Amino acid sequence: MNSRNTRPKIQHSRPDQRRSSGAEERNSEGPSPSTAPVLGPMTVMGQSCLLHDRRGSVKILHRDENMDPLMSMEVDTRVSVSPLTQRRDSTLTTPIQRALRSFSIPLERLHVMKGHMMQDMCKGLSRQTHAQAKVRMLPTYICATPNGTEKGNFLVVELCQNQIRTLLVTLYGDGNMSPHMMYKIFDMPEGIMQGEGEALFDFIAQCVSQFLAETISPDAAQSEERQSLPLGFVFPFSCRQTQLDKAELLSWSKGFSCSGVVGKDVVQLLQAAINKQELCHVDVVALMNDTVGTMMTCSTEGRPCEIAMVADKGSNCCFMAEAYLVETTDETSGRMCVNTEWGCFGDDGTLNDVFTPYDESVDEESNNPGEKRFEKMVGSLYLGEIIRHTLIALSAEKAIFTGTDVSVLKEKGVFTMQHVLDIVNNEEGMTVVKRVLEVLGLQPSERDCGRVQQICRAVVGRAATLHATGLSAILSYMCQTREMEMLTVNVGLEGELCTGYFRFEEILQNVSKLLAPECIPTFLASRDGSGRGAAMVTAVALRLAAQRREVDEVLAPLRLSHADLQKVQALMREEMERGLCKETNASASVRMLPTYVSHTPDGTEQGDFLALDLGGTNFRVLVVRVTEEGISMASEIYVIPVAIMQGTGNELFDHIIDCIMDFQTKQNLVTERLPLGFTFSFPCQQVGLDKALLLTWTKGFSASGCVGQDVVQLLRDAAQRKQHLGMKVVALVNDTVGTMMACGYDDPKCEIGLIVGTGTNACYMEEMKNVGTVEGDQGRMCINMEWGAFGDNGCLDHIFTHFDRVVDETTINPGKQRFEKLISGMYLGEIVRQILLVMTEKQLLFQGKPSPKLQTKDIFQTKFLSTIELNGLALRQIRAILSELELDASFEDSVLMREVCQAVSLRAAQLCAAGLAAVVEKMRENRGLEQLSVTVGVDGTLYKLHPCFSQNLQKTLKDLAPNCNVSFLLSEDGSGKGAALVAAVASRNANAMQ
Ligand code: BG6
Ligand code: GLC
Repeated sequence: MNSRNTRPKIQHSRPDQRRSSGAEERNSEGPSPSTAPVLGPMTVMGQSCLLHDRRGSVKILHRDENMDPLMSMEVDTRVSVSPLTQRRDSTLTTPIQRALRSFSIPLERLHVMKGHMMQDMCKGLSRQTHAQAKVRMLPTYICATPNGTEKGNFLVVELCQNQIRTLLVTLYGDGNMSPHMMYKIFDMPEGIMQGEGEALFDFIAQCVSQFLAETISPDAAQSEERQSLPLGFVFPFSCRQTQLDKAELLSWSKGFSCSGVVGKDVVQLLQAAINKQELCHVDVVALMNDTVGTMMTCSTEGRPCEIAMVADKGSNCCFMAEAYLVETTDETSGRMCVNTEWGCFGDDGTLNDVFTPYDESVDEESNNPGEKRFEKMVGSLYLGEIIRHTLIALSAEKAIFTGTDVSVLKEKGVFTMQHVLDIVNNEEGMTVVKRVLEVLGLQPSERDCGRVQQICRAVVGRAATLHATGLSAILSYMCQTREMEMLTVNVGLEGELCTGYFRFEEILQNVSKLLAPECIPTFLASRDGSGRGAAMVTAVALRLAAQRREVDEVLAPLRLSHADLQKVQALMREEMERGLCKETNASASVRMLPTYVSHTPDGTEQGDFLALDLGGTNFRVLVVRVTEEGISMASEIYVIPVAIMQGTGNELFDHIIDCIMDFQTKQNLVTERLPLGFTFSFPCQQVGLDKALLLTWTKGFSASGCVGQDVVQLLRDAAQRKQHLGMKVVALVNDTVGTMMACGYDDPKCEIGLIVGTGTNACYMEEMKNVGTVEGDQGRMCINMEWGAFGDNGCLDHIFTHFDRVVDETTINPGKQRFEKLISGMYLGEIVRQILLVMTEKQLLFQGKPSPKLQTKDIFQTKFLSTIELNGLALRQIRAILSELELDASFEDSVLMREVCQAVSLRAAQLCAAGLAAVVEKMRENRGLEQLSVTVGVDGTLYKLHPCFSQNLQKTLKDLAPNCNVSFLLSEDGSGKGAALVAAVASRNANAMQ
């Protein structure tokens, strides 16, 4: 027998515990097992132990002297062993005590083990370290749980230890409340587990064939033959899955070693064998681990289950992880079930110090020595073997079965799990224990019986404790990655250790409470094994595949190809030319309005100015001081009530003057008559810098009596009405121009202004010779494109979708600003809402139940798009946003909604890029350059706040205009600064002329 002294030191033991447990050990020698509770390795009973939990708090646990040893499994975990005590052990304690002690693991060691398990989990999930990870954390491609609408017949085949189970489940779409199930179990012929892979799969296929022949009537069989019968395959081995129906076997375990299967796609092998049986209508659509089947079985009846543990011949656990953490797949949305394959935990040596000599012997005798070390300590296939080796060792030391024949113990597998359970579960006297041992061919004394029972309980108790430790790692991992203070979760349980060992669940509960106190697991025993769940997985897979097809169909019109975008770019270019040309300008949808701004700032501008900024999310009044040292500003936001936006022009401009007066009073500027630059973000036909006729209102404004009027004059008139003399309007600019000027002050290469906010628009420096609508050929002039109206002449009709048309029809300016309505913040939320309505109607969302809230116009604001699309945003948060809108979104609903938002915002960014590509390419050609380097000054809440808009825009622009090197400069202080700069130049020129 190996000496425990050779094992690595246990890091976390504490001297006080060591002493007390050592003392107790000596006292515990003696009482006969049949007369008093045997105080084996759990001998800190009666002590008060100070425990440090993971968060550093201290708990005091009082133990009851007369406590049943089994009840005290958690105490068991607290026995501290140090090298010193071990040395004393070997001299002062009995072999039995030493054996028992070797199976008990101190609580602090369990904490460390849990930490290692969590580290290994992270390692398994990370793309970089996955290949070396022992805990493989295999993606299962199962991202959804049943929602009750699943319908139809589903076949399940389960590969079990010595059996093949076949199951036919009929679901009725009734919430899965009453599935109809038929099953048959086939025993596996001798030797097949170690034979050829082909023989195994042929046998499975034969079972399927026979089962179908017996369960499906000839009539039904005929109609089945026409329809395909989906099959879910429960394959409880470690597989690298790349799809639900593609799974390469990584390694066999649990005594299987069929040749020619490792490295192959198991789904294909099964499908080929099934086809050989001429069951061509049987279609293997999903492969899953048994843990996954269990999770799904336990997930029915309206209790979502997100963890499942199988404590059977082998041991394993799966759980729903945030998909973005599963770096080995491309899935980033929602959650995915991960098969931990925790059986291999410890294969890198982390469990060596708790591995007993008996575990070593079992490992050495197994098919796969050195592998699946954790499983070999906890799997029921091995527990009997661990006990057998312990008894062999103890009888060799003459500590048990003295003077009797123990040769039967040499026989591998003689101690079955059933024997172990019979011994462990029996609480009344030793009669049953004795009988079991005698049946095995041993001649135990009364004392032997007690000792064997103690050993069995220690081994089985350890298995339960270790399961709880693994589970605690998963619980804490889930709690942390979901950023929750406390996690409440259902845990499905399956396997003979769960069902057979009556204290199993209690130990899970107690130990996980100590190791993961922040989590509250509720254990659900799987009543029907993993088969029913496997049918569910298969059904969900089919439902999702059908749903996917429908979702793709709905979203297809929004998805634009490179060619589509090139066409939009070309059309924009055409419209630009038409807008610039005097003859065609009137009929062009892109008006290409001259701005009378012919230079970007040169740094010589100076003075104090007022500025107004009207037409974006906020109406602002500002004072801007431009000096040689730089620009300083102060501003105030004022509200423009909708009643004023949509009232009369006089009301609007009076209100604006009121705001200016208020601002000047607050800023102590009443005595001055400052030049004012006016950012007016609406399309204007400019006749000069300070004369601009409003062509049309956009973005929800409709104040009467303004269209066709000179806006500067309207403002002057209002000032006169209010007898306000403290300002002098010298320039009016569009917000794009204000933005370009503001950014141009910092970057002379900034010759384009772009707004993607409430509305969208762009301006750029065009060669005067190309501007047919203004006299003169020299130099350049900034052109306000008013690209929001692109497509108003029908040239974009081919890309408008049903949703765009509905959104357009419900605005106050139907048929107008069609390009803007595809891109800007004022409309994206509405497009999303229209899509959601259609998806609900098609039963793809909210289980087809329309929410009255979703019928409300503008309920879905564009800012929600920005939040929903945030990378890594937990779905919990999405659901919270949606519940604010009184939308009760399921997990799957949230994932789908995110996809809708992404499709809409991506299209917006791409279209914006196509417009911009036309601009930069035109500038490049104008200047006869191979390569153009230019900066775009950008502003607008959508551009600024949306997490992917700018990236998508820039990427698409690169694709569409590869010869232009375009940088983007964010306008930090709004366009008022630019308006002031324009005003500065205007007043300088005016002064010069005087
Ligand atoms: C602001 C500018 O920063 O952005 C405005 O100062 C502009 O002139 C606005 O209209 C555009 O963005 P939004 O999102 O407010 O419409
Ligand atoms: C609208 C206006 C335009 C403005 C844009 C961005 O499209 O018509 O003038 O630049 O919104 O605010």
